[in-house]
Amino acid sequence: MKKTDTNEYFVPTYARTNPPMVKGKGMYVWDASGKKYLDFSSGIAVNALGHAHPEMIKTLKDQGTKLLHVSNLYHVQPQIDLAKQLIANSFGEKVFFCNSGTEANEAAIKFSRKCAGGMSKKKYNVLSFHEGFHGRTYGALSATAQEKFHAGFGPMMKGFYYAKFNDIADAKAMLRKHDFAGIIVEPLQGESGINAATTAFLKFLRTWATKHKIALIFDEVQCGMGRTGTLWNYEQHGVVPDIMTLAKPLGGGLPLGAVVCSKKIAEVIKPGDHGTTFGGNPLACALGTVVLKTVAQKSFLRSVNANGKYLKAQLEKIAKKNDSITAVLGVGLMVGVRMKDDPKDVITSCKESGLLLVKAANNTARFMPPLIVQKKDIDKAIEIFSQVLTS
Ligand SMILES: Cc1ncc(COP(=O)(O)O)c(C=O)c1O
Repeated sequence: MKKTDTNEYFVPTYARTNPPMVKGKGMYVWDASGKKYLDFSSGIAVNALGHAHPEMIKTLKDQGTKLLHVSNLYHVQPQIDLAKQLIANSFGEKVFFCNSGTEANEAAIKFSRKCAGGMSKKKYNVLSFHEGFHGRTYGALSATAQEKFHAGFGPMMKGFYYAKFNDIADAKAMLRKHDFAGIIVEPLQGESGINAATTAFLKFLRTWATKHKIALIFDEVQCGMGRTGTLWNYEQHGVVPDIMTLAKPLGGGLPLGAVVCSKKIAEVIKPGDHGTTFGGNPLACALGTVVLKTVAQKSFLRSVNANGKYLKAQLEKIAKKNDSITAVLGVGLMVGVRMKDDPKDVITSCKESGLLLVKAANNTARFMPPLIVQKKDIDKAIEIFSQVLTS
């Protein structure tokens, strides 16, 4: 039989490797050859409850046999349940469901513009920050202040300006220059290699946004839902946004995004202003209720915190002995190991040795295990990582 390279079927947006992954359970996934991998990538911060979580499988079966889709012209119970849970567990008063992080950010940008008066008041600009990442569709991409993602796809949308992350003076200078409708920021940048916003920076943005009636949007697509040891990362700064965008772990592995916002934002949006065919799909929302109910438990968050601290401490021990590591960054179970050189080969060798990590910018290897990780899994990951570094 002719051996085919499976990459020949795909637009090469990813440098995928073979053999394909075929199953997962708990902290582990298996490929088609039977090789087992300890998953410290969580599908890039998605599989918060690991793989094949029993309650998620039960929910999939229950909801899957009841109702898969009826359109957003009608209410569906799982959407109502998840919206109620999101509101009960955050600053939010209203929810809009979509399918992904980029769509959540598109909606947030649109809502902020409509709220500010948009074109009619010439108040439509959006401020975002260098090294942030907000998605691949044109609004979210235009808000992503990184040339490497724009290259070849220009022009970007009108009305987007950028300032330096964590630089109050630079943000202030830009905010004074133009009339803004919104400010979008990741409180903990993920794709750029785990850069935390300072509390002072977020407080400045909050104060400015309130004073100038601008929507403050926190993109918690990667850092939200318990990943950093509190349900939402903004809690650690004591700074509350007007809009928060979510996706990744929200649907437990099915596509689901959300905009969580204040009533004030929501009340300017009228039926027909925005929409989605699939957003808030009943199956994804049913899984979302299981994920959110689980990760919102105090005992669960305590274990994310304890395991996050343990993981960081173990990585710091390795960093002390190994000068190829320049820093260990992050909070909770969103941890980045900064290296002197591109960590691509280290990540590939870790995979060959049965450990999945994810690369981020600035020579960073991300450790983002499912939030159900235990000390024994961390010990195993550390053993593989340090063996790869020494070899
Ligand atoms: C902070 C942040 N926002 C938005 C996105 C885009 O999400 P999606 O890939 O679901 O469109 C990502 C994806 O990595 C992200 O990390």
